[in-house]
Amino acid sequence: MELLDKITSKSARVGVIGLGYVGLPLLAAFHRAGFHVIGFDVDPAKIEALKRGENYLKHLGESLVRDMKIAGRFDATADFSRLAEADAVIICVPTPLGSHREPDLSYVQKTADEIARRLRPGQLVVLESTTYPGTTRQIVLPALESRGLRCGTDFFLAFSPEREDPGRKDANTQTIPKLVGGIDETSGKVAVALYQQAIREVIPVASAEIAEAAKLLENIYRAVNIALVNEMKMVLTAMDIDIWQVIAAASSKPFGFQPFYPGPGLGGHCIPIDPFYLTWKAQEVGMPTRFIELAGEINHQMPDYVVQRTALALNQRSRAVKGAKILILGLAYKPDIDDVRESPSFELIEKLTRLGAIVEYNDPHVPATHRMRNYDLNMRSQPFSAKSLGDYDCVIIATHHSAYDWQMIADHAKLIIDARGAMRHVTGRRDHIVTA
Ligand SMILES: NC(=O)c1ccc[n+]([C@@H]2O[C@H](COP(=O)([O-])OP(=O)(O)OC[C@H]3O[C@@H](n4cnc5c(N)ncnc54)[C@H](O)[C@@H]3O)[C@@H](O)[C@H]2O)c1
Repeated sequence: MELLDKITSKSARVGVIGLGYVGLPLLAAFHRAGFHVIGFDVDPAKIEALKRGENYLKHLGESLVRDMKIAGRFDATADFSRLAEADAVIICVPTPLGSHREPDLSYVQKTADEIARRLRPGQLVVLESTTYPGTTRQIVLPALESRGLRCGTDFFLAFSPEREDPGRKDANTQTIPKLVGGIDETSGKVAVALYQQAIREVIPVASAEIAEAAKLLENIYRAVNIALVNEMKMVLTAMDIDIWQVIAAASSKPFGFQPFYPGPGLGGHCIPIDPFYLTWKAQEVGMPTRFIELAGEINHQMPDYVVQRTALALNQRSRAVKGAKILILGLAYKPDIDDVRESPSFELIEKLTRLGAIVEYNDPHVPATHRMRNYDLNMRSQPFSAKSLGDYDCVIIATHHSAYDWQMIADHAKLIIDARGAMRHVTGRRDHIVTA
């Protein structure tokens, strides 16, 4: 087959649509493997930055885009007519939730329609965006076949979930095993052949639906276990037992236990969102998803719990939330990255401000807030020092960035609400530290 020959000889052109946290490193992985790559995005600012050789995702390293630009075989464009140039097209567009927690597949649909308009025989299309089982076959396939070409003979279609964990040092796009499921056997084989050129381990699965559902299982597993440990935190804290020491102790078991850690609420593009894709789809077969709903309920409650613990701690010091000066440490949803999507810190800021607190934030990775779907805070990160920490009635640790000097913070903050266990190794002044 001509496409397989092009793939194995690396003369195939690889197009990636959606150059965000998933698409950009994937594009770079295929480039590093020796392919000619074309990145597509609707955001002109991203395209311009890429053309200048600049990387807007700092955690991937300054040189990522520059290296591609210097090596050549790399182009970025908002001109979707150039999709016809690509032999393989990989879709990495957003899959958010709508206002009633229903899947918003408009980005996937729009992209499938764009590809369909230029689809030519011998192309491979792969969906990577996280979604409910059946999306590739029920949404993408009809769009692509709408102009008469047939999947499995004229073109090929597969699903391969992205398992990226931005900021992680011990795994990356190339080293994380890649699941691939085709719409038909030939499509699966072609897609496996493509990924094998760039990814260390590729695991074929029997269908696109298995690959789609496996990704959801991974994320639901995390959401449920995080909810469990958040509930344990609330119960044990009420008993005056330190949840962090309990997790460390339980983790000594060499089998049958995997540690998860509590926090101020779920964040990021995946865990707060993806499970509800299954909940929605499950209605079609009349099945409830009680674990997902319960986990969602508990995890959604966490910012309120942190606010409540803050109010209580201030009260014990004869301070009201109203008028209190509060510094939130960490705006990103997890340590050492600049991704603020769905970050619970925003909810904390909003809730505390509504109660009358004067709230500021510090995040070494997020110098200023920008307009988001639900928030437009218009705030800037406030630098702090040993001296200025004393100006705040309370410091809330929302994200445990490694840049923070916990002992210095413990030594100088008047009151610390620790939602991340960041204070567990500091010495002295324990009566100023409250678990939340
Ligand atoms: N971020 C993660 O860690 C992660 C991990 C696994 C899976 N995923 C999944 O991967 C998908 C992409 O997530 P992400 O984090 O990369 O999102 P992102 O928001 O970082 O990037 C998406 C990109 O798509 C672009 N885009 C939007 N509409 C487009 C269109 N119609 N055509 C072309 N480009 C378009 C946006 O401008 C943006 O650059 C989602 O389904 C997500 O659930 C994300």
